[in-house]
Amino acid sequence: MKIFRRLLSYLEPYRIFLIVSLGAATISTLVALGPPYLVKLLIDQVLIQKNLPLLNYIILGLIALYLLHSGLTTLRIIYVNKVQQGLIFDLRNEVHHHLQRLSLSYFEKRQSGRITSRVINDVETLQAIVSSGAVIFTIALVTLLGSLIILMRLNLKLTLLAMIPMPAITFLVVMFSKKAHRRYRQMRRRLADINAILQENILGIQVTKSFRREKLREEKFIHKGEGYYQANMSVIRIWSVFFPLIMFASALGTVIVLYYGGREVIAGNLSIGGLVAFVSYLGLFYAPINQLNEVNNIFQHGRAAGERIFEVVDTIPEKEKKKAIIPPSFLKGKVEFDKVSFTYEKGKKQKEVLHQVSFTANPGDLIAFVGASGSGKSTIVSLLPRFYEINSGSIRIDGYNVKDFKLGYLRENIGMVLQEPFLFDGTVIQNILFGRPGASKEEVVKAAKIANAHNFIRQLPEDYETEVGERGVKLSVGEKQRITIARVMLKNPPILILDEATSSVDSEAEILIQEALEYLMKGKTSFVIAHRLSTIRNATRILVVLEGKIVEEGTHQELLEKESVYSHFYQMQFKENGKIIAI
Ligand SMILES: Nc1ncnc2c1ncn2[C@@H]1O[C@H](COP(=O)(O)OP(=O)(O)O)[C@@H](O)[C@H]1O
Ligand SMILES: [Mg+2]
Repeated sequence: MKIFRRLLSYLEPYRIFLIVSLGAATISTLVALGPPYLVKLLIDQVLIQKNLPLLNYIILGLIALYLLHSGLTTLRIIYVNKVQQGLIFDLRNEVHHHLQRLSLSYFEKRQSGRITSRVINDVETLQAIVSSGAVIFTIALVTLLGSLIILMRLNLKLTLLAMIPMPAITFLVVMFSKKAHRRYRQMRRRLADINAILQENILGIQVTKSFRREKLREEKFIHKGEGYYQANMSVIRIWSVFFPLIMFASALGTVIVLYYGGREVIAGNLSIGGLVAFVSYLGLFYAPINQLNEVNNIFQHGRAAGERIFEVVDTIPEKEKKKAIIPPSFLKGKVEFDKVSFTYEKGKKQKEVLHQVSFTANPGDLIAFVGASGSGKSTIVSLLPRFYEINSGSIRIDGYNVKDFKLGYLRENIGMVLQEPFLFDGTVIQNILFGRPGASKEEVVKAAKIANAHNFIRQLPEDYETEVGERGVKLSVGEKQRITIARVMLKNPPILILDEATSSVDSEAEILIQEALEYLMKGKTSFVIAHRLSTIRNATRILVVLEGKIVEEGTHQELLEKESVYSHFYQMQFKENGKIIAI
């Protein structure tokens, strides 16, 4: 029930709306209790005692009651939707807010479609608790209590007889809840499966087509769909047994009442109108039991969705120090790694990825990492903006431990250009402004010029206003990369990380990018992972990485002059083709 208590806290801003809608529901339900009593008067006083004037009053009374009921229902529908839509909106934003602040490893471990499923589908399911759940619950409860009081006042003995099936009904409802919850949880998971495979199929469509494996991917999709189908059916199966059983038990109550009530009417202890009214109220009394059962169904479903939503909300976001140091207004860019060790999957016995990595970069230095694929180069540089927490050792910028900075400040001071450029949906200028949202058009153009991007942007259909990203014009990887360089240029941080920024492009594009990067690196402390000899040769220092350790350090000249891993592979590879392939 924790889920429901938490959900209540989200309802706080909508308290007034909720009160209005539940108030309207309560009053309209009380109004609905009136007509059977008027029918009793109609039978006993108008029909049997032939009191014609009373008929007019009864009819007017009925019309008034039904009108009032309709008006209140409109009110209830409007206000309950204000609550419901507001709640969806808030919850979705809340989940997304948390999601954006979770560590990279959260996203690395999950398929994106599964995450989408939580933000969209589970949120929608959870809100049904309010719309259908809370309202039906109120109506059912008021009807149940109201009709019970009336039943007891009409005939206490018949009321007691009508209650005979109650223990059986309660038992069935409890049984259903127990069985349903696990199945609903399964159902939410299977729906996430479908979203995951769909997203994957869309992203991988080109690979699918080139291998002509449409059938294979389709089979996988159908397979996941079957899982969801089965999960749904398994809920329906128990519902189809329990729901009619509960209906049957309540119908038995009515049968018992008709049997004893009939005898009482014949014996003259009960009027005909009395029996008709009693049976009508009994119908009103049992209807909510079925409704409550349905509410229970909605609650069990919502509970499963709620668990998944709150799991996201409760996942601990990236660690922030409460008492961050007051940082200098700008950093010079001295970077020190001091015996840094690191593992990605902590606790999962993954072997250490980095062992005691130590080095120092002075402001303005160009540090090049060289090493075989998988040796740990990207890992080293990703620790600087604290994408992951280190196991031991320390990382300092200008003498401050990076853990003592606010994350926002730290990342504001580091720029990254990665192998695969990523542009968001939007225009070129919007994408460049991502680097510094307040910048002027002149500054954007200047950054684009330095990034060797201005000329090709000018040739796009709408210049800087051209849509790029998923729905926009298709740019080459090299063009995209130059836009991402302009983006970092605009941000202009003192520290730069370039992780194989040119390895996805051809040599012509590489020259343009290389030139842009050289401008970008001017005056900044730069960490470069590159395979081109020209970049490496210019480095202040080269760090050779081998299986998570820095094994050699020095300038190109220094390393070549001695017998080193570097000189060995320089002889083998650089000399020939100007590129490192492997060490
Ligand atoms: N997100 C991750 N989760 C778990 N292991 C990872 C992750 N990224 C890289 N690794 C592992 O860490 C090691 C170093 O990888 P990486 O730093 O990417 O190497 P490089 O950049 O030198 O090619 C590899 O064994 C790789 O499998
Ligand atoms: Mg790498």
